[in-house]
Amino acid sequence: MVYLDNAATTWPKPEMVYSTLYSFMKNSCANPGRSAHKMARISSSLVLKTREALSELFYIQNPLDIAFTANATQALNLAIQGVLRQGDHVVTTAMEHNSVLRPLYHLKQKGIIDYSVVMPYDSYGNVSPSSIAEAIRPNTRLIALSSASNVTGTILPYEEVGEIARTKEILFLVDAAQGAGVLDLDVKAMNISLLAFPGHKGLMGPQGTGGLYVAPGVEMRPVLYGGTGSRSFVTIHPDFMPDMLEAGTVNSPGIAGLGAGLRWLMGVGLDRIRKKKKILMESFFKEIGRVSSIRFYSERDASKNAGIISLIIPGMDSSEIGNILDQKYGIAVRSGFHCAPLAHETLGTMKTGLVRISPGYFNTAQEMEYAARAIREIAGG
Ligand SMILES: Cc1ncc(COP(=O)(O)O)c(C=O)c1O
Repeated sequence: MVYLDNAATTWPKPEMVYSTLYSFMKNSCANPGRSAHKMARISSSLVLKTREALSELFYIQNPLDIAFTANATQALNLAIQGVLRQGDHVVTTAMEHNSVLRPLYHLKQKGIIDYSVVMPYDSYGNVSPSSIAEAIRPNTRLIALSSASNVTGTILPYEEVGEIARTKEILFLVDAAQGAGVLDLDVKAMNISLLAFPGHKGLMGPQGTGGLYVAPGVEMRPVLYGGTGSRSFVTIHPDFMPDMLEAGTVNSPGIAGLGAGLRWLMGVGLDRIRKKKKILMESFFKEIGRVSSIRFYSERDASKNAGIISLIIPGMDSSEIGNILDQKYGIAVRSGFHCAPLAHETLGTMKTGLVRISPGYFNTAQEMEYAARAIREIAGG
């Protein structure tokens, strides 16, 4: 199997992720932050180490400003439902995932907020910072933007938008699902108030991991209430991080595995990750050439793309292409709509969907060439 579905979840993981998961489950899988015995202390310290590694990666000053979640969706919900209040307005874009769009729609349906959707200006999904600035209203509390599109891979202008948010004193939520582990994300320099990330994609952790960074001073409400291991006699749920957003036992084995993924990632370095993605994308594009029967929706320039190649063969449905790639060639891709309906509407691909090829660090140039030849054959080119 040639796995080219890393934008959904990276696979394989570095060996140290597997070994950490096994040894944690076998030797130190006590409940972190609850009991005080030796095993619980080991468990707690591994969870803290992962918080510290995340802080290093995202330039976060206090590791306790990060709450662990089960995935990026949960982190985005905690952020959106936690900060927005009656009468607030939000600016977002048509390139966002349903994990942003659905919570916003839910709050709008309940009559709590309103939001504006900024449209991209080209068929790669590029969005201009000035159109985001123009959508700001006096009651805009939040700008919600992906670091990179999960449909086309296009890197969105989060640095410039961070500056706009700073000037206008608006909260800035970055959905780092496709950027974490690929792009340089510095919460301080980029004025990011809320950073939502999955652990199971570019950070190389197992599924069931993710997190939300909340900048100091951001007014937040919890969405879930319950046990936190702290202040057990107080009826009111804690209002301090991370306990405020971590009701219930966290996924400590997964978090320990995520810690191993982060150690691997920082050992390799983001520069090498990006260089490898560039080589893989170039191998694909070189092999496939300029076939007129294939339409591409992703930037070929790797400096503008977080590592996704999306395409369609006119006259075919994307799921048909995905099936042939799977059944005949043993290639795993994601075809369809990628939980991003507005992006597909904007790109004009809502009837067929797109075939999304997303290589990871462990893929080879030969695998990319093989995928390119397979698609060329399917296209009859
Ligand atoms: C841009 C974007 N946001 C959010 C998500 C949701 O991530 P998760 O599956 O970890 O909840 C994804 C998943 O593919 C994504 O690509």
